[in-house]
Amino acid sequence: MSRDLFQKCREYSDSTVARAQGFYPYFRCIEQSYGNHVVCEGKEKIMIGSNNYLGLAQDPRVVEAACEATRKFGAGCTGSRLLNGTISLHNDLEEALADFLQREAVILFSTGFFANQGALAALTEGDDFILCDKENHASIIEGCQVAPAKLIPYRHNSAEVLRNRLKRLPAEAGKLVIMDGVFSMSGDIADLPPMIKAAREFGAALYVDEAHSLGVVGPEGRGIVHHFGANDEVDIVMGTFSKSLGSMGGFIAGSAEMVEFLKHKARCMIFTASLAPAVVGGVLKALEIMRAEPERIDQLWKNTRKMHEGFKQIGFKIGTTQTPIVPILIGSEAKAFAFSQRLYDEGVFATPAIYPAVRYGEAIVRTSFMSSHTEDDLDKVLQIFAKIAKELGTFDDPAYTEPGRRKNVFDFNLPESGGFEALRGDTGVAARNGSGLHATVSR
Ligand SMILES: Cc1ncc(COP(=O)(O)O)c(C=O)c1O
Repeated sequence: MSRDLFQKCREYSDSTVARAQGFYPYFRCIEQSYGNHVVCEGKEKIMIGSNNYLGLAQDPRVVEAACEATRKFGAGCTGSRLLNGTISLHNDLEEALADFLQREAVILFSTGFFANQGALAALTEGDDFILCDKENHASIIEGCQVAPAKLIPYRHNSAEVLRNRLKRLPAEAGKLVIMDGVFSMSGDIADLPPMIKAAREFGAALYVDEAHSLGVVGPEGRGIVHHFGANDEVDIVMGTFSKSLGSMGGFIAGSAEMVEFLKHKARCMIFTASLAPAVVGGVLKALEIMRAEPERIDQLWKNTRKMHEGFKQIGFKIGTTQTPIVPILIGSEAKAFAFSQRLYDEGVFATPAIYPAVRYGEAIVRTSFMSSHTEDDLDKVLQIFAKIAKELGTFDDPAYTEPGRRKNVFDFNLPESGGFEALRGDTGVAARNGSGLHATVSR
């Protein structure tokens, strides 16, 4: 008899158990959004779990541009870019982004996830190698799994380990080094200059994912690559519209030749419908506003500095973050869930991240801050965090009292050979099939 594919679905109970215990933090329904505040179950919450860094998702000019695009072109493009799905707004946005990033050309994808997957799969071949930071985003890791190239993980942000990995590869092989510009869990930034040096020494191409750095870091928010003045040194820049630009979608920027190739070879672009008119119209306006109103980025950094300082003063550990992404160390997985539930009850919206997204026993509440947060919002958030930490004994958790002790349980200090098992994405299988959450709620 053939294996029952749905057995695992019948047996899956982690989310039900978590709901029964009263701290299931996912799929919370937002009934109304004002950006810095949202309404859930009829009650207003301060949103500190969003990537809407510049508050542009709700800007009336962006909303009006999205409506105007819908009136002109309809609700959707009902086809692939390659065939019937290209409208003038797609071309306009590609040109605007190429100009902004000072690149020859840009190609849009329907999500940032597809941009990474599509580019990695199309650009590499079976004898090539992708050298991937172990803390890169899941879309990159999925992209590496789909790509024909062999995967070589390297220790997070370590140019030295990268160099050692590169040194051992055949000189004639194609090599691509890929990293997040700002890492989505830790909030730290890529140590780009030594990475560039290592890549250049061994003839490797460089690919930087600017998802969390566009609109946040660098002159006018141009990203990490520009922050380091390295635009001529990085071959491929990827970005998303799902964060600072307040919408959805992604892109790859680079040479005209590469973009022309991707336009005809990236399956994630060819075999999916193009971005809806409302999205492209809105993103074009958001980009225009972002460039015209740099004070938004200044305010974002003011808020970021206040929160880094504020959390540290209370006693929280916030890791190595240098950006508006602020991971608050809680420790035990169960406490992180309880913490996030108490935040919600007190009027703050933020979600936990547990193993395998972070090290086991070092669960966090992941917070991220926006230019649209007011002084009052931020003060309230700090007060509420302090109150809950006291109530739940956060600073008594082994993550605080015995730092480092539990790190070797499931950390990513894996053997030299690496491979997929050395990456978060693959250990993420545990989360996808439920054992991550199960471990939490049943402990
Ligand atoms: C670093 C990074 N890259 C890519 C993506 C995927 O972007 P999108 O949401 O546009 O699919 C994300 C999303 O969270 C991300 O954090």
